Amino acid sequence: MSDMEIFIKSCLIGAARRIEEARKSGLKITVKGRNDRATSADFASEQFIAGRIKKEYPGSLILSEESYHPEDLVADSLFVVDPIDGTHNFIQGIPLYGISIAHYSGGKPQAGGVYLPNQRRLYYAEKGKQSTLNGKPISVSKTKKLEDFFLLCDSRIHLAEDMGILRGLLRIERMSQHTRFLGTAVHEMCYVADGTVDAEMDFKLKPYDFAAGIFIAQQAGAKATDLLGQKWSLSTKSFLVSNGRQHKRILGILNE
Ligand code: IPD
Ligand code: CA
Ligand code: CA
Repeated sequence: MSDMEIFIKSCLIGAARRIEEARKSGLKITVKGRNDRATSADFASEQFIAGRIKKEYPGSLILSEESYHPEDLVADSLFVVDPIDGTHNFIQGIPLYGISIAHYSGGKPQAGGVYLPNQRRLYYAEKGKQSTLNGKPISVSKTKKLEDFFLLCDSRIHLAEDMGILRGLLRIERMSQHTRFLGTAVHEMCYVADGTVDAEMDFKLKPYDFAAGIFIAQQAGAKATDLLGQKWSLSTKSFLVSNGRQHKRILGILNE
């Protein structure tokens, strides 16, 4: 294991512990905006991870949802952190949420880890290596036909209407085996990575929602683009991540 793998994995496990402690001692909720809340567990997780980064990688920048928003996304060393992805599931008591940490250099992913504490699934990817789940190599599904595809989709479905692709999305839902909404981008991307599902779509993400998950999916063989089929960067907001077999067709249906 590289130093970075040991570091990211231990931060993820430590953060999960902080989240559990915060939950047990009674969650305090901060309202950030309409439909946008953070909890004392989000802050506890973030404080723990940022503290570890500052101590062990002192020259690095941190981008993290609740408190760290640097302008430079192409720094030599940038950690991109989502202390809890799926906060609203977490608040409701739905056990689908995760912690995400990625390391980028010059805007390109170098390493990424996601931990889904309730599923005890620890995903990790590093440049030049196959992604792993709990230490074992993973790869995307081999499903070929769209009729057999199981897809996941961003929970903010009204955004599809705002983007003019709602009719396309409904067609995909009709044509595929199933299209489901989990409310956590890290689950969605990691489930493409390990072949649990065949594709997933997102409409308006922030860098911390996808920085690790998309890299884990790619290093497991996934194709990942924006919804016009262009290469993604940390500034991209909408995504299709898939096993590659129906990528062009799904984009075509969404945009027709
Ligand atoms: C959210 C989740 C969700 C996506 C939202 C994100 P958060 O992240 O990833 O799946 O639809 O756009 O904001 O707020 O739970 O970290
Ligand atoms: Ca998120
Ligand atoms: Ca979050």
